[in-house]
Amino acid sequence: MSYYKILGFDKEPFSSSPDPEFFYESRGREGVLTNLMIELRLRRGLSIILGDVGTGKTTLCRKLIQLLKGKEGFIYYMVLDPSYETEEIFFSSLVRNFDIKSNSLSPSASILDLKEAVERFLFRKGAEEGKIIVLVIDEAQKLNEMSLECLRVLLNYETNKFKLLQLILLGQMELHSKIITIPNFLDRISFKYALNPLDEAETRKLIEFRVKQAGYKARMHLFLEDATGDIYRYTRGYPRQIAMLCHKALKALVIKNKQVVDKTLIQEIIDEEAKAGWARTDPALLQKGNC
Ligand SMILES: Nc1ncnc2c1ncn2[C@@H]1O[C@H](COP(=O)(O)OP(=O)(O)O)[C@@H](O)[C@H]1O
Ligand SMILES: [Mg+2]
Repeated sequence: MSYYKILGFDKEPFSSSPDPEFFYESRGREGVLTNLMIELRLRRGLSIILGDVGTGKTTLCRKLIQLLKGKEGFIYYMVLDPSYETEEIFFSSLVRNFDIKSNSLSPSASILDLKEAVERFLFRKGAEEGKIIVLVIDEAQKLNEMSLECLRVLLNYETNKFKLLQLILLGQMELHSKIITIPNFLDRISFKYALNPLDEAETRKLIEFRVKQAGYKARMHLFLEDATGDIYRYTRGYPRQIAMLCHKALKALVIKNKQVVDKTLIQEIIDEEAKAGWARTDPALLQKGNC
């Protein structure tokens, strides 16, 4: 039997996958989603979300895609790893992923044919049929100069009123240093946001939300308040770190046959990590009572 079933959950509450069902909408994240939806509907072109590793960019992407799924009039595609080496690979990927059909596209189509097919698709679907065409690129810090230039060209396609391609780039901070060197790109950003870690109250709410979402029905709190305070301080509010520490805490509950996650349990996990050489090295975090 899985550990989470022993504890009374239907699903694993702290899985490390970016599952939109477990997406906690802090005020900041709710605001980002609303802004992105407005930008898309107004077809303003380019939005950029920056954030450190583990702040929840991929989860946010998946949540956005889930929102789009229920809506009429959107054509969308999400790229998870945009490591395109040549223009040809870049445009072939667009043709394939947007399922662009064109008579001029034979297996030996030239780069010009591919570009034209994408352009025609944008005008046909975007301008004539009025669809909102969305390309979401995660890990966008991996885009090379050539790919950024291709995207800049695509953002030039527009009618008198709106852009034909809606582009959302999500990436680590280095994406910022890449795009500030391309002035024409920077000018085109319509919405930008930096995804920060959560604060202490949000950390607590994320934990409660995921516990509930996983089907936990008991009335008492599974994570005591002083434990969530320590979880916040140890993880600094990074959702990935929170999920990992909470997962360890629940496993420890089963192993130690305890009922609730308290401060002592969290401290034991942190101490064990320190002993194993895995813990963060900040000594202030390792002192008991001040993890
Ligand atoms: N808003 C959120 N609510 C709940 N869990 C989250 C949230 N954002 C991230 N997570 C958790 O943190 C983990 C890391 O998030 P992820 O989106 O992969 O971060 P990033 O892409 O920025 O590195 C996810 O697997 C998910 O479990
Ligand atoms: Mg990610």
